[in-house]
Amino acid sequence: MKACVLYFSQTGNTKSFAEEISDSLDAPVFDLITSDPSVVNEYDVVLIGTPVHGFNPSKEALAFVERLPEGDGKKTVLFCTHRLWTGRTFGKLKSTLKKKNYHNVLCVAVKGKEFSKEDFTEPVQKIVKKLQE
Ligand SMILES: Cc1cc2nc3c(=O)[nH]c(=O)nc-3n(C[C@H](O)[C@H](O)[C@H](O)COP(=O)(O)O)c2cc1C
Repeated sequence: MKACVLYFSQTGNTKSFAEEISDSLDAPVFDLITSDPSVVNEYDVVLIGTPVHGFNPSKEALAFVERLPEGDGKKTVLFCTHRLWTGRTFGKLKSTLKKKNYHNVLCVAVKGKEFSKEDFTEPVQKIVKKLQE
């Protein structure tokens, strides 16, 4: 299983989460702002992370997902960091992914104000476990 981690992060929280996932999966991590969506063609599993902005995914992450190539059933995992409520964050990304034929297997949200590495330990383990199934 070849995985890659793509994220958008405004203040660094989602970037930290993405880097923890990347370390645990031994998968490359890319800032989606500077990545071409066609990069996903090289991987079997694509993990996509965003902060929650106004009960929605960041517009940067949504725009990236909207530009992804046809998925052909490729697996995705969505993750986010947020302060209070995720709202439509995962729902919006999932419906966009579904239209493009991606198969999302897991959504993981981490809630908090300031995050330490330890805050991501359990959520990362959840992702690793899911991808081992
Ligand atoms: C403009 C803006 C809107 C936000 N809206 C929400 C929101 O609707 N729900 C929520 O739980 N957190 C919200 N937050 C908090 C962020 O999701 C949270 O701080 C997140 O960890 C930031 O991730 P980042 O450091 O990767 O940018 C908002 C933050 C900003 C700056």
